[in-house]
Amino acid sequence: MTGSSSSDRENDGSKQDWLDSRLPVRRFLTTQFRSFPMPRSANMLWTVGAMLSAVLVLMLLSGLVLAMNYTPTVAGAFASIEAIERRVPSGWLLRSMHMAGASLFLGALYLHLFRGLYYGSYKKPRELVWLLGLLLLVMTMITAFAGYVLPWGQMSYWGADIAGKALASIPVIGPFTERVFLDGSQPGDGTLHHLFVLHFTLAFAIVAVVGLHVAGVHVAGSGNPSGVESDRKGSLPFSPYFAIKDALGVAVFAIVLTAVMFLFPDLVTESANYRPANPLHTPTNIEPEWYFLPFFGMLQAIPFKFGGLMASVGAVAVLFLVPWLDTSPVRSARQRPLIRLSMILLVASFVVLGLAGQHHMKGIWLIIGRCATVFYFFHFLVVLPFVSRRERAVVESAS
Ligand code: HEM
Repeated sequence: MTGSSSSDRENDGSKQDWLDSRLPVRRFLTTQFRSFPMPRSANMLWTVGAMLSAVLVLMLLSGLVLAMNYTPTVAGAFASIEAIERRVPSGWLLRSMHMAGASLFLGALYLHLFRGLYYGSYKKPRELVWLLGLLLLVMTMITAFAGYVLPWGQMSYWGADIAGKALASIPVIGPFTERVFLDGSQPGDGTLHHLFVLHFTLAFAIVAVVGLHVAGVHVAGSGNPSGVESDRKGSLPFSPYFAIKDALGVAVFAIVLTAVMFLFPDLVTESANYRPANPLHTPTNIEPEWYFLPFFGMLQAIPFKFGGLMASVGAVAVLFLVPWLDTSPVRSARQRPLIRLSMILLVASFVVLGLAGQHHMKGIWLIIGRCATVFYFFHFLVVLPFVSRRERAVVESAS
């Protein structure tokens, strides 16, 4: 018995060596995931990356089945979604998973981004990890928008119409860009076809960029809440310590997703989108999904359309400059009281902008929305460079 198990082990070992000498999968998994050193102090916010990766897999699998049953034409789109809901086996479940998953994915993405801003995760040596993350944010936003148009309900149609008009406001190339986007003068078959291809292709491109993003984290090493790079003593192997922590994060995420799907589906659905698109009837209240509301707020905060477009595009663009706007040697907001205060106000501005967007900047919301827009840019363009300069001077004079 003992003899046979030791020869089995030898056999297993030689099989692994055979594979590893040709394609070092085991060596890669061991160094990159099993013994990868993680800072001991990494808190639960460091599990959000794992949640995002897990929900991305769920989105791809559910999306593949939905795409097999979807018709990307004006005549067939709405009916094919109805068929998925009523006739495709478990179609309602897959669609509900895909819709709730998209909403929570964006929510987790914002949390991951604000974690990075708060703890200074964008600083050397993680600038490229940050930039790839932002590329993922932009790709996810485009994918989510394209997906929202696909059911061809009232909100889908009028959402595409507003996006087209926003593009048309760009000086000189605006009307051309709108035509390319809509493939005509108003949303129709061409628009739906463009957006279906974009939605499908970007979803897989996101997986490739996630690979680069995570590879970047593994080259630079993981950061931590204290902002002080951890040495060997301050680290623990990823498995089992952080593998279990990530599994806990993913389990909590799965519970929230299940609760949204089965108990609070209204949180992620818009009743107007259960009415087929009608180009002759403009809904009284056109608004995007909750995760676009802060940007929708900025779009409306400026009195002329192109200015609004610049503000909402600029709100994402400014994030790409953050590693160069914040040049302080101090990394984490834990040690930066002014940045901590400004970050709290920044998050408040983002939420308030969403509320102002939802209220269409009417009445007092216009003033509140404008103040929040100004503060959003003030944080990045004034507070970050100013505080960095002061902190640099203090550190230089102390050394
Ligand atoms: C599809 C979306 C994304 C996925 C699947 C993803 C996944 C991950 C994973 C697995 C990690 C390592 C674990 C962790 O630190 O949580 C990570 C780290 C990181 N991510 Fe993302 N990410 C995404 C989007 C973003 C975005 C939008 C940003 C912000 C611009 C970003 C910035 C970062 C940074 C700076 C780190 C390193 C943090 C540190 O170690 O201090 N990621 N990401």
